Amino acid sequence: MDYQQLLAPVYQFLHCVTPQSWLDKARQPENLALLLTDHMICELKAAQTAMLLIRKYVADKTGSDTLLGWLQPYESFTFRDGPEPDFAAVHKRISKSVMPKTDDPWGQQLIDSMVLLIKEELHHFWQVREVMTARNIPYRKITASRYARGLLSEVRTWEPATLVDKLICGAYIEARSCERFAALAPYLDEPLQAFYLSLLRSEARHYQDYLTLAQRASPDDIASRVRHFGEVEAALISAPDREFRFHSGMPQ
Ligand SMILES: [Fe+2]
Ligand SMILES: [Fe+2]
Repeated sequence: MDYQQLLAPVYQFLHCVTPQSWLDKARQPENLALLLTDHMICELKAAQTAMLLIRKYVADKTGSDTLLGWLQPYESFTFRDGPEPDFAAVHKRISKSVMPKTDDPWGQQLIDSMVLLIKEELHHFWQVREVMTARNIPYRKITASRYARGLLSEVRTWEPATLVDKLICGAYIEARSCERFAALAPYLDEPLQAFYLSLLRSEARHYQDYLTLAQRASPDDIASRVRHFGEVEAALISAPDREFRFHSGMPQ
């Protein structure tokens, strides 16, 4: 795979690269458990975000309930101390279930790209969980970083601006994940390196899907909003951060 070709638009979209001090912290073996745990939770949150967008903006009741059912075993395990489900079985059930539908072409585009994204994020979740299990890393709940909260605090409060802004935030979170996977990979052991590189292609597509949806949802050109969120995102990544997480800023 030509990673540079895949990453070129991502680097262009982001206003800064991951600081070396974050990479130095992330490569320390004692931080691996925290890094993987936060990564696993981020995959679930990415699926939740996409599900909420479909539920809020397009799906009918049946489609909505189907989507809720998909995420339920993951959420129960991750956020409510539920037992660890057989993720292989859960995953099989999801790939066989029927997708939500709508007559609205824009709505259908949202459903199609977000349903694919949800399936991929849940698969990534399961993959990270398997890496953790193989390395005897137990799952423990952790607090969220300031990153997503910081981005979402800039979302405008009226429609369709809210939707447009949320989609642009989605694009930045995906693009940053992609950039960070690529930046971190060379510092990881061989199996983890291969795993992180395997995630690049879907995360790069997720960022582009979000951006396409944002432009379709907006009556105006989104360039100025994209620039605004790009600046906010870069500030969160470059400013000192007390907490170390997958999307945290400069370690203090
Ligand atoms: Fe993912
Ligand atoms: Fe993603």
